[in-house]
Amino acid sequence: MIVVTGATGQLGRLVIAALLKTVPASQIVAAVRTPAKAADLAALGVLVRQADYAQPATLVSAFAGAEKLLLISSSEVGQRLVQHQAVIAAAKQAGVKLIAYTSLLHADTSPLGLAGEHRDTEAALAASGLPFVVLRNGWYTENYTASIPPALAHGALLGSAQDGRIASAARADYAEAAAAVMTRDDQAGKIYELAGDDTYTLTQFAAEVAAQSGKPVIYKDLPEADFKAALIGAGLPDYVAALLSDSDAGAAKGGLFDDSRSLSALIGRPTTPLKAVVADALKG
Ligand SMILES: NC(=O)c1ccc[n+]([C@@H]2O[C@H](COP(=O)([O-])OP(=O)(O)OC[C@H]3O[C@@H](n4cnc5c(N)ncnc54)[C@H](OP(=O)(O)O)[C@@H]3O)[C@@H](O)[C@H]2O)c1
Repeated sequence: MIVVTGATGQLGRLVIAALLKTVPASQIVAAVRTPAKAADLAALGVLVRQADYAQPATLVSAFAGAEKLLLISSSEVGQRLVQHQAVIAAAKQAGVKLIAYTSLLHADTSPLGLAGEHRDTEAALAASGLPFVVLRNGWYTENYTASIPPALAHGALLGSAQDGRIASAARADYAEAAAAVMTRDDQAGKIYELAGDDTYTLTQFAAEVAAQSGKPVIYKDLPEADFKAALIGAGLPDYVAALLSDSDAGAAKGGLFDDSRSLSALIGRPTTPLKAVVADALKG
């Protein structure tokens, strides 16, 4: 039995879809905070169980009978270490034989502020004594395509990444990699640095959007504090603006770059090209 936490999230749903290609639905558990959001998964025959990272009592029963567990990192930044520790403890109690964890690219050396909770979770996994495998995911290309509508409206994509090279991949690529790791033998102890085959600067990203949309879009680099202020001005909560601007500043230092091509090796095909993800986003 394979358990996937966060299975109603965007990545989680794609992981379940990828698993269903080779694993019978009756051997997959979607462990979710809100079971009502997983009715479509239940209809496919996937077992849906409640598992709220913030309610440890829900976790052990959600993981019962599981051989392997994919811990998809929580989206509740700032609460993540405690939540992930609760998941690891419950997995141990439930007798899980392998945990896979979605961490951050080069979490051990990353300049991104987001890396701290991932580093601490990796340390908690190591301290748990449970066999584990780490999927250090790079940036989703979709993080940038989400900015296409405002970029088209203003003729400019804002950021603080300077000319840092970004090796992002589509969410679906990372999901397929997670499914591959969950269904292969001998994964314990592995650390995968996962990133896209394509690398680009935000200037090149803006040029791609301009070329495909036929509308003028340039990249405008801002100091980190100004980018954060612009994001707050656009209506984002302060903490999200802080995370995004810090991550862009980290990208300027190479924090979102990797050329190991481990992701394409794991999924057995090239990662989804930037062009294709931009085209999808422009279709709306
Ligand atoms: N690599 C990247 O570029 C990148 C970008 C963004 C995020 N991330 C990380 O990768 C994770 C997966 O990405 P995503 O795109 O799938 O994010 P997402 O769509 O926001 O999904 C986050 C998932 O976490 C679940 N969750 C949050 N708090 C929980 C709790 N207390 N108990 C149980 N589940 C909880 C959510 O449950 P609900 O469905 O109930 O809300 C949701 O299923 C994120 O959570 C974040 O840690 C990575």
